[in-house]
Amino acid sequence: MTTETPALVRPVVRAGEIRVDNVSKEYGAGELYKSVVKDCSFTVERGKLTVMIGPSGCGKSTLIRLMAGFEKPTSGTVLLNGKPVAGPGRDRLVVFQETALFPWMTTYDNIMFGPRARGEDDAQAKALAEFLLDKVGLKQFRDKYPPQLSGGMQRRAELARAMINNPEVMILDEPFRGLDEMSKELMWEYYARLYEESRRTNFFVTTDIDEAIFLADRLLIMSNIPTQVCAVMEVDLPRPRKLSDMVDSDRANQIKMAALSVLHREAMKSFAGGSRAATDFIEAYSKRVRKPAP
Ligand SMILES: Nc1ncnc2c1ncn2[C@@H]1O[C@H](COP(=O)(O)OP(=O)(O)OP(=O)(O)O)[C@@H](O)[C@H]1O
Ligand SMILES: [Mg+2]
Repeated sequence: MTTETPALVRPVVRAGEIRVDNVSKEYGAGELYKSVVKDCSFTVERGKLTVMIGPSGCGKSTLIRLMAGFEKPTSGTVLLNGKPVAGPGRDRLVVFQETALFPWMTTYDNIMFGPRARGEDDAQAKALAEFLLDKVGLKQFRDKYPPQLSGGMQRRAELARAMINNPEVMILDEPFRGLDEMSKELMWEYYARLYEESRRTNFFVTTDIDEAIFLADRLLIMSNIPTQVCAVMEVDLPRPRKLSDMVDSDRANQIKMAALSVLHREAMKSFAGGSRAATDFIEAYSKRVRKPAP
C-alpha cells in the first residue's frame, strides 16, 4: 500500500467535471408512470471525490445511468466538461455493485482487458497492471481466477480493472455493498489511497453513512423518490485518511450527526406520506447512530 507510482506508469490524468443541470427522469405512462428524478442539479467537481448518499430506491442508479449516458433525461442536461453528454464514452467509467470480472480470465488478464481491447498491450500497460495489482493487494493472486478470490478481492480487482483505463471520471455505484463489515472497511482504505494518489474525479454512490463520510470531499444528500439534492456538505477532513483516525475524530462525528439529521428529516417526510421505503430507511439509519458523539 505504500508503493510509489513509478514515473513510467504514472497515469496521465485528465480529470473531468460533470454537471447535472435541472435533470428530470420519468418512466412509463398511465398507471405505470413514475417520476424518479425531479429537477435535480449538482456538480461533480474536477479532481474531487463526490459521494452521493440517499435512501434505497430513491433514484441514485438512475442518475448514474444518465451521467454515464446509458439513458437520456426526460428534461434537463448532463454536461461533461461543459458539453452535453450524448451517450456512453471512455471518458466516464462505471463500476457497478455486481462483479463484472470475466470468470475465465486470471486477475491479471481481467485488469489488462481494457488496454488489450484497445490494442494497447504494451510495456506501459503491463507495468501499470502490475503496479495496480500491488496497489490493491492482489500481487499474490495475479494468476488466480475470480471464483478463487474472496468477494473483497474481486472488488479490488474490479477497481484496478477500471483504473487502468484512466477515465476522466470514475463513477461507482455502491461497489462495496454486500461485503462483510471488515472487508468493507479494508476496501475503504484501498479505495481512498487509490483516489488520494490519482486525484481523478470520482463520483461514488452509497447508502452507508460511515462509508460516505470516510471517503467524501463533498457529500450530496438526496431526498426520497423523485429524488433531488436536499443538502450539500463539505467533508473537510484531512487526507490521507485512516479509519483509525476517524473513530475518534470529533469533526467526523459532527459531520455524521449533521448528515443523519438531514436524512432523518427526509425519512420522516416520506414516512408521513405512508411510504414503505421510509420505514426501511429509518431502520437502516437508526442502526448507524449506535456510536454517539462522546
Ligand atoms: N426502466 C425503468 N422503468 C421503470 N421504473 C424504473 C426504471 N428504472 C428504475 N425505475 C424505478 O426507479 C426507482 C429508483 O431506482 P434506482 O435503481 O435508481 O434507485 P437506487 O437509489 O439506485 O436504489 P438502491 O439504493 O436500491 O440501489 C425504483 O423505484 C425503480 O423501480
Ligand atoms: Mg442503485
